[in-house]
Amino acid sequence: MKPGTELTLRIDRIAEKGRSAGRSDGREVHVPFAVPGDEVRVAVLGKRKRRLEARLLELVEPSPLRDDPRCRYFGSCGGCTRQNVRYAAQLDLKREAVERTFFDAGLLAHAEVRPTLGADEIYDYRNKMEFSFGARRWLTEAEVESGEAFDRDFALGLHVPGHFDRLLDLEECHLQGEVSRRIVNGLRALAKEEGWAPWNVRRAEGFLRHVVIRTPAHEEEVLVDVVTFAHDPARMETVAARLRRDVPEVTTLVNTVNDGVAQVAHGSESHVVFGDGVVHDRIGPFRFEIAAHAFFQTNTRQAERLYEVAREFAALRESDVVYDLYCGLGTITLFVARDVRHVLGVEIDPVTTACARRNAAANGVENVSFEAGDLLEVIDAPLVERAGAPDVVLVDPPRAGIHPKMIRKIDLLGAERLVYVSCNPKTQAKDLEALKRSYDVTAIQPVDLFPHTDHVENVVALRRR
Ligand SMILES: C[S@@+](CC[C@H](N)C(=O)[O-])C[C@H]1O[C@@H](n2cnc3c(N)ncnc32)[C@H](O)[C@@H]1O
Repeated sequence: MKPGTELTLRIDRIAEKGRSAGRSDGREVHVPFAVPGDEVRVAVLGKRKRRLEARLLELVEPSPLRDDPRCRYFGSCGGCTRQNVRYAAQLDLKREAVERTFFDAGLLAHAEVRPTLGADEIYDYRNKMEFSFGARRWLTEAEVESGEAFDRDFALGLHVPGHFDRLLDLEECHLQGEVSRRIVNGLRALAKEEGWAPWNVRRAEGFLRHVVIRTPAHEEEVLVDVVTFAHDPARMETVAARLRRDVPEVTTLVNTVNDGVAQVAHGSESHVVFGDGVVHDRIGPFRFEIAAHAFFQTNTRQAERLYEVAREFAALRESDVVYDLYCGLGTITLFVARDVRHVLGVEIDPVTTACARRNAAANGVENVSFEAGDLLEVIDAPLVERAGAPDVVLVDPPRAGIHPKMIRKIDLLGAERLVYVSCNPKTQAKDLEALKRSYDVTAIQPVDLFPHTDHVENVVALRRR
């Protein structure tokens, strides 16, 4: 079908990357920013992997699931693409997506997917945001239509979907609170006054690369990490003075240096400019120290729900030995420790592991121990001998899921109960398929930590046959 061809169709489900999908003449059509239930007129852009990609031209009949987006950047920003869907419907759509994935993987013989546990706060819910500096600013339709002259060579904000080098210059973002907005706008103003160059991805040059902001939900602390290409202490003192003046809520400033090509907010070295370089937050009865680069669930309030589900699914007994694999700062480790004999946490990052040990001590939890290192190397016969064979194994891997060799090792550990917490149900289902011969899936609970996005946390309980 030729690009530019117009079609009218009914949208019937959500698809990947913020798109929704419907059918026209038996062919699947993907449309960004459409909502299931909409009747839409679209223009075909092209074909990709046997489906048509199209652009929304007209909403012929709006879906009853539609809602008004709060954010003025909605429609351009890649941050939260489902703001135009009612929150209750977002939860249903997430459940359905998990159900489709688990059905396709043949994992629903002994369990059904429970309704998604929703959040009470659906805006400003993130305790961590990562904004990028860039040398190519993307203008929203409203900005273009305003006729104003904009500086197109500087942006501080979030990426435009499908354009790795284009950024929206965000004056507000409803994912993190008011303090975060003041930090972003203050840093942008300062950088422009001082003439500091934003990072140019294409040329791999510039000074300012990212700003990471941590705003814990339950502590009056704020961490700012300015990621730069080079270490320049004088410039960082200027940043410190400006933050102290305009955002006194900031309790610590870190400068991470990333002199590599990869556009990531961590780097080869970190310098603490003021404060102690960490923040704290509370989940349930525990208080956690969070190092600048450590993993910590970005939605503190929903993390508590997530961990409670993991705890319930583990069906803990006083005599249990539990392994918490991919344990991060020891969050789940501490959550389950009070119910069992001992918990062993394993985490690859030594700084995070040291933090996990301090977290256990600071919370007075004694029946836990931590090992730093890659699970594939750390979990061996001598360790199992020392820690005892596990009754329960909890896993919470990164998005990519579990290494196939590690899945075999988990199977060999032979725990009676397994709980798999994941931020990516697709890789989770793939991993669980590999465990099907030994384990039955007995419960599946999606938990929404990321309102207005397609992301969902999913907790699965398994029992050994
Ligand atoms: C999704 S986070 C979960 C952390 C923790 N359970 C929580 O909820 O805060 C995954 C953690 O696994 C760690 N990790 C990644 N690969 C690993 C590996 N091969 N061995 C051990 N830990 C690993 C990461 O550093 C990260 O802290």
